[in-house]
Amino acid sequence: MQITYLGHSCVLLSGSRKVLIDPFIEGGSVASARPDIVAVTHGHADHLGEAVALNRPTVAITEIAKYLKAKGVPAEGMNIGGTITLDGVSFVMTPAMHSGWIEEAGSGYCGGSAAGFVIRMDGVSVYHAGDTGLFTDMKLIGELYRPDVALLPIGGRFTMGPDEAMMAAQFVGAKTIIPIHYNTWDKIVQDPHPFKNAIERTTDLTVKILEPGGSWELQS
Ligand code: NI
Ligand code: MN
Repeated sequence: MQITYLGHSCVLLSGSRKVLIDPFIEGGSVASARPDIVAVTHGHADHLGEAVALNRPTVAITEIAKYLKAKGVPAEGMNIGGTITLDGVSFVMTPAMHSGWIEEAGSGYCGGSAAGFVIRMDGVSVYHAGDTGLFTDMKLIGELYRPDVALLPIGGRFTMGPDEAMMAAQFVGAKTIIPIHYNTWDKIVQDPHPFKNAIERTTDLTVKILEPGGSWELQS
């Protein structure tokens, strides 16, 4: 499976299917990714992004799925703790410590809880934490789903920063950590290198820093 970091929280998993998580990048479009399936972690604009315009089968929490269906998107609703399989790709919805309002003109919409996903395809497993603070049940995610890779936010302010993400990485135990949700804007500026150095010095985990547009091949 190829993992491509398109930027911010947006990641494309390319294997037997193309799965696009959180279809938003700053100042551009992710339409050229041409995903088979879209997954949305929560209702904030920097995650819901182009989900409506892409108009692909979209996995999201029931509240967001309802919002998308009303706009004609073939959404698949689910909720935290549940699993669905689409086209041979399985999605476990995991908790996230965050909010989830769908910001739109007027009062907006309730987007339900924020979430993350463990996505399994072609025999490998990827955990995308979504936007979240640190929580100890990340240990359960590690124990139950044994992700090979964890995509963890490190930007701070709206999510974990590097210190919390360092503990999150150890809770989850995925061999490879890819930092996300940083350097998109001034408020979430982080240097990922001290994070990488600290983890690699003190654990047997590896941090793969991807520039927006960069890819990494996960062997199954
Ligand atoms: Ni958010
Ligand atoms: Mn966000």
